Amino acid sequence: MISNGRARLVILISGRGSNMVSIIEAIDANQLDADIVAVISNRPDATGSVAAADRGIPTAVVDHTEYQDRDSFDRALAETVDRFNPHLVILAGFMRILTADFVNHYANKLLNIHPSLLPQFKGLNTHQRAIDAKASEHGATVHFVTAELDDGPIVLQAKVPVLADDDAQTLAKRVLIQEHQLYPNAIKKIIQERAL
Ligand code: GRF
Repeated sequence: MISNGRARLVILISGRGSNMVSIIEAIDANQLDADIVAVISNRPDATGSVAAADRGIPTAVVDHTEYQDRDSFDRALAETVDRFNPHLVILAGFMRILTADFVNHYANKLLNIHPSLLPQFKGLNTHQRAIDAKASEHGATVHFVTAELDDGPIVLQAKVPVLADDDAQTLAKRVLIQEHQLYPNAIKKIIQERAL
């Protein structure tokens, strides 16, 4: 609970950050009572960090290649995240598997968006796998992160049809449009439920 009624979000990214931008835009449009207090990338070249910095949002890099192992990287990452004292930590295209220690440190505070209708298609290449499985529907899921990969309580899902002539790219594009609505909506739901 905080006094000014706005949730403090730290967003973790690895790449282009289009979901991050959708959250920024929802805040700018007053659809979300939140502030992004930092965007942290594990890759120095993440284009999403440039987009965040251009909008005046503090950015940081914790480069995983500078750490010997997953544990030491995750400890450094948690130290950086904690400096910003977030209510919620938002994984938005953050392409590192996190240790149980990290995940437990942020229990009930750590969110991820996964491009499938979980529990279907955990892991990578979800769009191609949905096509190969001849799924009629596909989509995206926002869920709390637990130590189990792409598991954890589901907050919201969005569905799209799989069309006969879809390839992984066309399907990914249709899902991504939904992701950009879904993530701000899921964060809003949690903020409202918790009265952050
Ligand atoms: C999205 O498809 C998201 O579901 C997945 O990684 C992609 C990130 O895209 N976890 P972006 O960096 O937010 O543009």
